[in-house]
Amino acid sequence: MASIALFFSLLTSLLFTSSMAIASYNQNPTSFIRSSCGRTLYPGLCYASLRPFAARVGTDSVLLSRFAMNVSASRLKPLSDKIFSLHHRASLAPSSSGGIVTSAIKDCDGLISDASDLVKKSEKELAGLEEMVGREVTWRISNAQTWLSAAITDEGTCSDEFGNGGGEEFERVRKKVKRAEQLTSNALALVNCLVN
Ligand SMILES: *[C@@H]1O[C@H](CO)[C@@H](O)[C@H](O)[C@H]1NC(C)=O
Repeated sequence: MASIALFFSLLTSLLFTSSMAIASYNQNPTSFIRSSCGRTLYPGLCYASLRPFAARVGTDSVLLSRFAMNVSASRLKPLSDKIFSLHHRASLAPSSSGGIVTSAIKDCDGLISDASDLVKKSEKELAGLEEMVGREVTWRISNAQTWLSAAITDEGTCSDEFGNGGGEEFERVRKKVKRAEQLTSNALALVNCLVN
């Protein structure tokens, strides 16, 4: 009796495992991206930003997270340049903008270029992950998680500081920082999924 029960439980687990394997095998890249993005905080943004890479991502979750980091990095770079030039302008004419605004630009200049470096570094850290084994894999994923979290903190600090007035141009920059923060958050969520 016990052995029959065992047989059936083995059989069901076998069927279950093989149907799971078939489900992921049959999944096409766009539905793979959609379901992966479903685990992020901003699934719509995640899907829209990664769908263009579907053909190159396939159903590879490491590659998906690396593309997500590159999407975030590609927003941060021009933003960092923009804030650098605002900083430069503010330091040439310190009296034209308030003290709070000037210090926000100065802080953001450092924060966003830092965030940009952290996100790029994280993408590189996961390159070639498939060929690695054991603790090297865990170590690299954990580094990327740490660096992406730090980047999100930098972005959040910057957008908070930009909240203190400064007019329309600043509001535009603040929104872009916010958007970059959401993209970095999505990239981190996709990296977190690799741990399971
Ligand atoms: C991400 O961008 C870097 C630098 O441009 C590039 O070397 C790398 O191949 C990109 N990663 C992916 C997954 O496309």
